[in-house]
Amino acid sequence: MLQIENLHAAYGKVEVLHGISVAVPKGKVVTLIGSNGAGKTTTMRAISGMIKPVSGSISLNGKDITGMTSSRIARAGLAHSPEGRRVFATLPVTDNLLLGAFPRLTYGRERGDVQGDLERVFELFPRLRERKSQLAGTLSGGEQQMLAMGRALMLNPDVLLLDEPSMGLAPLLVSEVFRIVSELKGRGITMLLVEQFAAAALNVADYGYVLENGRISCHGPADQLKNDPAVKAAYLGAAH
Ligand SMILES: Nc1ncnc2c1ncn2[C@@H]1O[C@H](COP(=O)(O)OP(=O)(O)O)[C@@H](O)[C@H]1O
Ligand SMILES: [Mg+2]
Repeated sequence: MLQIENLHAAYGKVEVLHGISVAVPKGKVVTLIGSNGAGKTTTMRAISGMIKPVSGSISLNGKDITGMTSSRIARAGLAHSPEGRRVFATLPVTDNLLLGAFPRLTYGRERGDVQGDLERVFELFPRLRERKSQLAGTLSGGEQQMLAMGRALMLNPDVLLLDEPSMGLAPLLVSEVFRIVSELKGRGITMLLVEQFAAAALNVADYGYVLENGRISCHGPADQLKNDPAVKAAYLGAAH
């Protein structure tokens, strides 16, 4: 369970998040919807420790993780598949995946069955198995996206952050990404999902929050938001 309370975040002196509160209950998929520049990626970065919040609090499974380094937050059980993928271009696919399991290999986090989990990631993404020795930088955009998701899963996370997993992908791969998100949901993985395809995100999510200019303008169960006239007009039109 992830709980964000009154989070403020800034780049230098420019505040981007003006006090947002979001709850991601265990086993649920929660989506954050908003236009470009609303602050979705900043929210994800503040949660995973890539930037330090100005104020507010973030807790994971009841433990306060506010202001911790990203490596400690990963050890606490939070994995982040970042916008733009950020795979290690000069390392093979398998090494990228094992780096996701690093806290488990160094006993920062319970080890469990790392090899078994690697096998499960390869089952989920057969393309990655075919290319397991290939350098990540030479993968296609879609394959790099699968790798970023696979690497995050290798933490065996309590909470998974997915920031625009379908960005830049061909339509067929976009549906594949959503198929995988539902599959992960079926496995009971707790997720916070940011997606440009808001309608598809609301279809897979249990609950949604709308972020406008760094503030939550409304939130509710996903089927309720899907039918909200204002949300429909702003985010679920033909262009989305
Ligand atoms: N590294 C950065 N330095 C300064 N400003 C940034 C940086 N990243 C994002 N911003 C600004 O923060 C705001 C929110 O951006 P972002 O969180 O990326 O939005 P979203 O993911 O919703 O599109 C935007 O105004 C953006 O220009
Ligand atoms: Mg973004």
